[in-house]
Amino acid sequence: MDNRIPVVAANWKMNKTISEGKLFVEILNNKILYKPEVDIILCASYPLLFQMNLLLDSGNIQLGAQNMHWELSGPFTGEVSPLMLKSCGVQWVILGHSERRHLFHETDETIMKKVISALKSGIKPIFCVGEKIDERKSGRTEEVLERQLSGLLETINEVELNRFIFAYEPVWAIGTGENATPSQVKITHRFIRERISRRIPECLEKLRIIYGGSVNLDNAKELIEIEGVDGFLIGGASLEVESFEKIINIVKENE
Ligand code: 13P
Repeated sequence: MDNRIPVVAANWKMNKTISEGKLFVEILNNKILYKPEVDIILCASYPLLFQMNLLLDSGNIQLGAQNMHWELSGPFTGEVSPLMLKSCGVQWVILGHSERRHLFHETDETIMKKVISALKSGIKPIFCVGEKIDERKSGRTEEVLERQLSGLLETINEVELNRFIFAYEPVWAIGTGENATPSQVKITHRFIRERISRRIPECLEKLRIIYGGSVNLDNAKELIEIEGVDGFLIGGASLEVESFEKIINIVKENE
């Protein structure tokens, strides 16, 4: 892999209580004693963030949220603002995750509002794109990704883009135990990299694109060896600290 720092990010989704999150961080902290050659990001649900941040003081592990509202404050019952996330020490936010798009009906427009607001607030986006199974089967993967990226490409400049991580997460591979094949991952990552760098050529070498969708201990080595894969966004296999740490080591060894 070029000189991009790889990423291993956990998306815990709606899992873990505060005490479970704290225990995970305590164990992982003891294993990651020195600044790792991998960016490790834990994306936890809102109630855990403040407590976890208190335990992540070494800076070896970074904190992420799974969503946010685009406004800084106001009458939006049940929502959480980027200012609130910042005050919990959050550095990253997952935006455009397929569960937000499809279960909670987020649109490309609202996702873009969140992206702009996150950047203004100093929170870096982990921007997810991915096609559904019928879209892949009917040969429309690139068309879907193009649409999901288009608002971003119209709006974002090079400096802002350098703060992103992109995640390719085929919807049909999420939580199904069926990861995309190495050739599907390679072709799709190349498409995303080329599409973005067509707009901002300076990004070609710098852009970090990670893969998500049924990553586990058995397939991590094969997936990280694929050209253009800069790490993982992991759901199920990030819930156990042992498997998560082993995947970090697999990514590290690939360097
Ligand atoms: P799984 O690893 O459980 O398939 O989830 C992937 C994902 O959605 C990460 O954001």
